Amino acid sequence: MRGEAETFIKAIENAQCITVLTGAGMSTESGIPDFRSAGGIWTEDMSRMEAMSRDYYERYPKLFWPKFKELFQMKMTGTFQPNAGHMYLADLEKRGKDVRVFTQNIDGLHIKAGSRRVYELHGSVQTAACPKCGERYGLDHILKDDVPRCSRINRKGEECGFILKTDVVLFGDAVQHFDTLFESLDESDLLLVIGTSLEVAPVRFVPGEAHLIPGLKKIMINLDDTPFDHLFDVVIHRKVAEFVKEISS
Ligand code: APR
Repeated sequence: MRGEAETFIKAIENAQCITVLTGAGMSTESGIPDFRSAGGIWTEDMSRMEAMSRDYYERYPKLFWPKFKELFQMKMTGTFQPNAGHMYLADLEKRGKDVRVFTQNIDGLHIKAGSRRVYELHGSVQTAACPKCGERYGLDHILKDDVPRCSRINRKGEECGFILKTDVVLFGDAVQHFDTLFESLDESDLLLVIGTSLEVAPVRFVPGEAHLIPGLKKIMINLDDTPFDHLFDVVIHRKVAEFVKEISS
């Protein structure tokens, strides 16, 4: 077995508390494109980013929803399955490791794989809420109409009808659970970063912060180089599902 694989296995075995940070590269082997690789969602058409902003949603909610559903293949949401990478992280918990998964992904696949401590930094496509009355809705209601509206009946017997806001963190929204991520780093002896270009703030600051924590081992599994590779103890330029299948065989 190659040196990096042996080092990885040893680091996992020695770790008691593992903070994991994942990005879209975690789910490409489940058939979901990432954002910045060849064929990625933004690589294909950068203008899409402008439409996935809070500002665009607030100005053009009726235009936002069809674009959002198409971009994130929402009609397919229930059909994507966790890959060996998601399963590997869930199995670490089953083997008694204290694993905290902080994901930038909105596909819900870590939860579907059985990971119990999952923090969705960028929210989830599975739910939405009415900005006017706060009523909350699941995927069935969100997918029912092209532009999902609040169906709550008010005291006068009228339907609220306000266009819903997705629970996905849009550009311009605050990222969730970020304080918890830094608390988790302080409690961990291993940081595992998987499938992210580390392009987006505030996630891009994690390797620098982690580098200041004495005794915290840092491993990256990512196909492409990132600007922060030099801050990691081990960088594995492999496909995550392929790699964990190899080391688990
Ligand atoms: N295994 C390992 N790494 C992979 C794999 C794979 N199977 N497939 C792709 N990658 C790597 C790519 O090399 C790339 O560096 O995953 C990284 C994905 O980077 P991005 O496409 O930029 O996705 P991500 O880092 O998650 O983007 C962060 O940006 O636009 C926002 O909200 C969006 O959550 C997203 C955030």
